[in-house]
Amino acid sequence: MNSESWTSRLAKERVVIVPSLLAADFANLEREIRKLEAGGAQVLHIDVMDGLLVPNITVGAPVVASIRKVTSLKLDVHLMIVEPERYVEAFRKAGADSLSVHIEAVPDPTEILQKIRALGATPGLVLNYGTPLEKIAPYAQLADVLLTMSVPAGFGGQKFHPDVLDSVRVLRKLARPDALIEIDGGIDVDTIGSAAEAGVNFFVVGTGVFRAEDYGAQMKLLKKAAFNALSAR
Ligand code: DX5
Ligand code: ZN
Repeated sequence: MNSESWTSRLAKERVVIVPSLLAADFANLEREIRKLEAGGAQVLHIDVMDGLLVPNITVGAPVVASIRKVTSLKLDVHLMIVEPERYVEAFRKAGADSLSVHIEAVPDPTEILQKIRALGATPGLVLNYGTPLEKIAPYAQLADVLLTMSVPAGFGGQKFHPDVLDSVRVLRKLARPDALIEIDGGIDVDTIGSAAEAGVNFFVVGTGVFRAEDYGAQMKLLKKAAFNALSAR
């Protein structure tokens, strides 16, 4: 079978808003997910932190499995953990559709990206804020998702760092044409346009969605701001 991958299908949409559950009400995750589904979300971003690679601790595979049970949306799992090779299988079994690992955790990610693909998930590679682009550049073609952090990974609600857009522009050129170019951190209506112009097509948004009353309306506003910037070029 030669069916198109879900990531290359989404890449064609040019602007995909990916809500980050880190900013959701964790006591009412199912209700939050229903609101996102009704608002038109196609993908949910789940932040996994271990307190070692990043200073914060969040959720593990059991929570991903619980989310998987209540939704058919794609699950984009951002692994902010050391030794991710120990856990990718568990997260895949839990229902992750994409698994992204940090270059700071795996300096040569060749093997783990292959492993993720062999498990049937989409392999993603992440560059944290402050890590030189040269670290990730040699491996750009091996990933279907290339995620640039626009804040230091670890917490939601931080301020966007526009200097990362230079790295995004280079990664866009190095990546496979059908790869998703993802950005994460401080994306909101006032920052999304510049990211879109730099070549991002996959926009993780935490507080920028969840602090709104109406998630669907907010996602539409974000999408519109991105498309406005693209058409003004
Ligand atoms: C931060 C996480 C993000 C976070 C983004 O380390 O990787 O996914 O949820 O939150 P905002 O959009 O609020 O910056
Ligand atoms: Zn994230």
